[in-house]
Amino acid sequence: MDRNNTAAMDYITARLGSPGSPALAFGGDYNPEQWPEETWAEDVRLMREAGVNLVSVGIFSWSLLEPSEGVYEFGWLDRVLELLHANGVRVDLANATASPPPPWFSHKYPQSLPVTADGVRHSYGSRQAFAASSPEYRRAAAALTERIAGRYRGHPAVVMWHVHNEYGCHNQPDYSDGAAAGFRSWLERRYGSLDALNAAWGTAFWSQRYSAWQEILPPRTSGTWLNPTQQLDFARYSSDELLECYKAEAAIIRSHSPHPVTTNFMGFNMGLHQPVDYWRWAEHVDVVANDHYLAADDPRNFQELAATADLTRGWAKGRPWLLMEHSTSAVNWQPRNIAKAPGEMLRNTLQHVARGADGALFFQWRASRAGAEKFHSGMLPHAGTDTKVWREVVRLGQTLRSLAEVGGSEVTGASGRVDVAIIHDTDARWASELDSHPSVDASSIAETRRWHDAFYRAGVPTDFRESTDDLSGYRLVVAPMQYLLSDCGASNLDGYVQAGGRLVLSYLSGIVDENDHIRPGSYPGAFSRLLGVQMEEFFPLRAGESVRLSAFGTGTCWSELGTATTAEVLSAVEEGPVAGSPAVTRNDAGNGRAYYVATTLSADGRAELLSVLCAEADVLPLVPDLPADVEVVRRSKDGTDWTFCINHGSTNVRLPLSGVEILRGEDLDGDLSLAAGGVAVVRSRH
Ligand code: GLA
Repeated sequence: MDRNNTAAMDYITARLGSPGSPALAFGGDYNPEQWPEETWAEDVRLMREAGVNLVSVGIFSWSLLEPSEGVYEFGWLDRVLELLHANGVRVDLANATASPPPPWFSHKYPQSLPVTADGVRHSYGSRQAFAASSPEYRRAAAALTERIAGRYRGHPAVVMWHVHNEYGCHNQPDYSDGAAAGFRSWLERRYGSLDALNAAWGTAFWSQRYSAWQEILPPRTSGTWLNPTQQLDFARYSSDELLECYKAEAAIIRSHSPHPVTTNFMGFNMGLHQPVDYWRWAEHVDVVANDHYLAADDPRNFQELAATADLTRGWAKGRPWLLMEHSTSAVNWQPRNIAKAPGEMLRNTLQHVARGADGALFFQWRASRAGAEKFHSGMLPHAGTDTKVWREVVRLGQTLRSLAEVGGSEVTGASGRVDVAIIHDTDARWASELDSHPSVDASSIAETRRWHDAFYRAGVPTDFRESTDDLSGYRLVVAPMQYLLSDCGASNLDGYVQAGGRLVLSYLSGIVDENDHIRPGSYPGAFSRLLGVQMEEFFPLRAGESVRLSAFGTGTCWSELGTATTAEVLSAVEEGPVAGSPAVTRNDAGNGRAYYVATTLSADGRAELLSVLCAEADVLPLVPDLPADVEVVRRSKDGTDWTFCINHGSTNVRLPLSGVEILRGEDLDGDLSLAAGGVAVVRSRH
């Protein structure tokens, strides 16, 4: 198998359907070890009833597979896989290393447990209780992986491999002595000399100069702010250290089996305090897989879902990806675990598929009776099959079967491709989350989401990209609070404009270089010239304060004192200490155009600006005048378009679409009627 996202996803979907007819993946985590064996027959019978074709097995089963050191018991797993195979259910087989290592392991090797910044060593008894740097953990994980991959390499039920689970979810960052040693080696490789490290970390400040590698520690709890570059490098190191664990286990599996290998990512949860750089990780998985859970207290959580699905597609470089987990209804880990309203699950799942997922799996198949997640919904709820959840699961299975034809297609926009990219560098995100910054309200994630939401509401699809990617195919690129940009990223964005592109930069972009050192001169250091502005001082706003602007509504969170040099001022601040300073500017540079937005615009103001930007860049929505709360996304392949329409609102709407509505088998001639809460998928030719 060619190990790239498209080929690997095709490899999987081809094995889920019948010969010549690939199927979208449908199923979930299956944890039969939690149940008496008599239950399994009912499980597979109901899986068939629901049309489940793929289950992830064994993710948390290490202590059952290796009940004591070097003693393996595979009998139960053999029987489960046989049963699944006999019932036509394929398996995404885990190597089980995300389980907490079994109690015997942590008891024997306590030094393998992770340590917090305050020096508290984690106990075992939950999960992921290991330090990525621990040689004992790595040895044990490799041995287990070798056994599992060797034993099941030829098993006919297995079609893909699931390494570990949600790396970094509970044990990152680790500040143990092992991590300190690993960090030092990583720094030696990165900098080569202490002089280079001292320069990069700016250790002349507060007398932090290091004179020996041994003196360097992880950024453990200290009296006040730690060195920011040390913190940033520690996040980079922590991601790389975990990635080494993944790569070692994946390599063992690949030495046995041609099936695609993946691990599941966690959407936007890649912050400084859970540092996993998915852009880099995506280079090492055969298929990008993501887990997504709704924030129950956010009434517009479907927009967050859309942003996460787009980001996942970004990691997959636009190719199809796999939704490894979502929930049929409530989860157990939020303060208030709100259940999904009737129809909400179908809308959520179709959002992911619309945005490029070639399948949708859940956590988990059967809701648990015991353990920390017993209140988490499953495909098969405690209350059984005469339930809302089960009926919706069965209906979803039918829906995904009828959508098999979209497999392998890619998300497109009105022009036939996605015209807008949003830049979202991990380093920029991490650095923006460091302490001791101008305003706690200035959040890279929040600003990114605001821009994504604005395009979402306008019905304009967006891709996520890194600042160093080839952006030449995009008509419009937005860089929301890309606080840190490497020289390479900054010059790539500049070059994009010079070559004719249109770039929108928000405040706090390009302020520091890759070492988190200020780029000197007028703000924003990397782009003052390109933008044709000279900003001299930040004037963050007080909590709840807003300032009137001459156009595009009001600004909150941020303002700046400065002037336009060559730029045209589209909006200026009208009140307060920076009255007269630019808020939104436009500057022609090279063959392109660069816009600056020096405040957080209100949703209405941003929508107004967006229509100017889209008009100038010739970017059209998929459907003009999209009704509020209606989501329209398109996938295309070989001259066929599939337009997904999802009505999150409570009013029936009509959309000007022609073609065949697949879910109801209806011919449309320019008029789709979409009920409140309803979904539709329209096939057409272009
Ligand atoms: C994560 C994990 C699952 C489960 C779910 C619960 O996604 O991967 O094992 O704990 O959360 O929402």
